[in-house]
Amino acid sequence: MANPTPVALLSREERALNIERAVLGLYRWYVDKSQAKRNWRVDAGFDWLSLRTDHAPDVMKLIEGYYAVEQYVPDYTGKGVNMLRRSYGRSQFQLRWGSEEAKHADLWRNALLFGGRWPIERLEQYDSDLRAASWELPWEDPFHIIFYTVFQELATKLNYANLARIAAGKGNGDDPGQHRDPVLLSMCQTIAADEAAHYHFHLEVGRIILYYSPAEALEAIEDVLREFAMPAQLIIPNWPEIQDAILRTGVYGPRIFFQDVLQVALSQLSAENRKLIRDGIRRMRAVPDENGTMHDTIAAEILDVPHLVTDVRQAFARIHEHEAATGLNIVNPTIFEPGPLHAFVARDPIPAPAEAPVIVA
Ligand SMILES: [Fe+2]
Ligand SMILES: [Fe+2]
Repeated sequence: MANPTPVALLSREERALNIERAVLGLYRWYVDKSQAKRNWRVDAGFDWLSLRTDHAPDVMKLIEGYYAVEQYVPDYTGKGVNMLRRSYGRSQFQLRWGSEEAKHADLWRNALLFGGRWPIERLEQYDSDLRAASWELPWEDPFHIIFYTVFQELATKLNYANLARIAAGKGNGDDPGQHRDPVLLSMCQTIAADEAAHYHFHLEVGRIILYYSPAEALEAIEDVLREFAMPAQLIIPNWPEIQDAILRTGVYGPRIFFQDVLQVALSQLSAENRKLIRDGIRRMRAVPDENGTMHDTIAAEILDVPHLVTDVRQAFARIHEHEAATGLNIVNPTIFEPGPLHAFVARDPIPAPAEAPVIVA
C-alpha cells in the first residue's frame, strides 16, 4: 500500500457519532428528494377503472401476495421506530419510509378492488386473517436491520420490476403479450422506483457503517445472509400458493436472489467475496482488539477499500450539495471525518469541501 493516509484513531463513541451525523444528513437529503420527485398519489394517480379485470390467476395471485406483504407496514414501521427511537435521523427516516410503504399497501388494495373485483367483505376477511399475526423484527440491533433491509429492498424492487415486465407484455412463457396492462405497468414502475430509492438509502447507510465500524458491519452482513428470508412469509396464511405463483411467473426465486440481489448488493457494499468475509470474521474472533485497530486491518483486507471510500465520499458530497443548496451548511453542516479505513487508501478521492460561511451576527 503506497503512502497510507495517517488518521486519528476513533473511539467506539466517535465512530457511532460519525455514523449518526451522516445518517441524519442523508435523511435530510432523502426527504427533500422524495418529496420533489416521488410524491405520487394512490387514488388520483392511476386510471383505476381502466385496470384490467381479466388478469391470469397467477398475476392476480402476485397482486394478492404483494398486498399481503405490504400489509404489515404498521409492524415494519412501529417496531423499527421503537428500536431506533434514540436516533433522530434513523427514526425520522423510518417514519418517512413507513409512509411510502403504506402507499404501496393502498395501491395493491386498489388493484384487488378494481382489477380483482374483490367484494369488500372478502378484503376485510383477508385483512383480518393477515393481521391475526404480527411481524417481528428479524434482528434486534440497528446494524443488522440496516443490512437486512439493503437485501430486502433490492429483492422487493426486483419483484415489482419483473411484474412490470409482465404488464408490459414482456414476461416469460407463451404469448407474453396477453398480460399487457398499461395501468398495472404504471403501478409497478411507480413503486419499483420507491423500492429502488429505499434500497439506495439503506445501501448508503450500510456503506457508512462499513466505513466507520467495518468489523461490526461485516459480522452483521454475514449474520443476515446466513438466514436471509423475505419478510412476513411465515405469517401470511396463504403464502404457499403465493410462492407458487412467484416461482411460476419467474418474478423472483433463488437464482434472482443470488445473482441480482446478493451479488449486486455485496458488490455495491465493496464486500464482494462472501468466503473472504467468513474467513476474516474467524480471524477477527481469534485476536483480541481493545481499540478496534487490529480488526480494522483485517476488515481492510476483506473490503475493496478504495471503492468503499469513493462511495462514502460521494455520499458526503451529496449531503454537502443539499446543505449548500438549502443553507443547512450554515447552521448544521455535516462534517466528513476520515474513518479508520481511510488509513488504507493512497489518497482521498474527493477534496475537502470549502469551509461553510461564518454567520455574522
Ligand atoms: Fe413497498
Ligand atoms: Fe421498500
